[in-house]
Amino acid sequence: MPVPHESPLSERDYSAVELCLDDAELLVMDQRELPEREVYLRLHTLAEAHDAIRDMAVRGAPAIGVTAAYAMALAARAAPAAPDNFLVEMSKAAMRLNASRPTAVNLSWATARLLAAAREVMSHTQEARAAHLAEVARELHRADVRANRRLGALGAATLEDGMTVLTHCNAGALATGGYGTALGVIRAAASQGKRLQVIAAETRPYLQGARLTAWELQRDDIPVRVVCDSAVASLLARGLIHAAVVGADRVAANGDVANKVGTYSHACALAHHGRPLLVAAPWSTVDLGCPSGAAIPIEERAREELATLGERQLLPHGVGVLNPSFDVTPAALVHALVTERGVASPVTAQALAELAHAPEGVGGS
Ligand code: MRU
Repeated sequence: MPVPHESPLSERDYSAVELCLDDAELLVMDQRELPEREVYLRLHTLAEAHDAIRDMAVRGAPAIGVTAAYAMALAARAAPAAPDNFLVEMSKAAMRLNASRPTAVNLSWATARLLAAAREVMSHTQEARAAHLAEVARELHRADVRANRRLGALGAATLEDGMTVLTHCNAGALATGGYGTALGVIRAAASQGKRLQVIAAETRPYLQGARLTAWELQRDDIPVRVVCDSAVASLLARGLIHAAVVGADRVAANGDVANKVGTYSHACALAHHGRPLLVAAPWSTVDLGCPSGAAIPIEERAREELATLGERQLLPHGVGVLNPSFDVTPAALVHALVTERGVASPVTAQALAELAHAPEGVGGS
């Protein structure tokens, strides 16, 4: 598998984001070009990293968290020497990054960690501050890969040999620090010798399922077929889907899950047909400060995403759209939430509160 440079942090788990060249350059795979071309953006400033997140060159909740952490490290290099001014600049950088995509909580989770690290070293030299923030960002990246491998193994235990598993959007290596969450579960099951068939819902309008999930699984030799989103209910009715595993952008304290728009429709259809929906997410996606799905900000994206396909206009001129990029699946429709801290099933406020106290990488309910 080609990698951006010789020793990616996630090693064989594939990383679409890497900090290199003496911490001065952020390499980001431009996912808008997949599956046709594998090209990398070379980013050097906070503004460039912000735009790469906003414009979805890099996407997926944990991946934008990792990118934002590295962007904070780039910002530290350019920040003023005086400690107070340094902190003001770093706070502004965090706020700017947080606004780039509002739904995925991993973004503000990551910038808060880098801001806390900046506070600790505010009176150090500029070089020492920048080096410290780069190392904190790298550790956050490594921790995400570790979390994915751990939750992947926990989730894999729930999948049986011979199953056909639905996934939506892309919650793979491309969407994380490496390995993936939903695709981490599928990868882990496949590596245990379970023969899975994957059905990737294409994920209108941005087509992350068709372009990215299919690309990733094909590279891993995991059998995958793409279906249009609206085919899922009828495939369930025909008994052709046995379970679903998806990622998340934010899990509220009561277990409601925000994920790519379309997840809720699949959840309703899965529940109707008595098939389980697993949500796989690192703990950095759980927002215990958010009481329920109703409080999760849902990003509205531009008309063009829905109204155009390449050069082609799909809608009559002047017709408006609604383009919510995410939806909220009520906790009651989620069979299990799989995190690196353990598995919550049923998904309740109490189960999440218990996992909050579990040591990282252990626990469960
Ligand atoms: O708009 P995107 O592509 O950033 O949306 C991504 C998703 O909804 C993913 O399912 C989610 O971020 C989990 S990624 C591990």
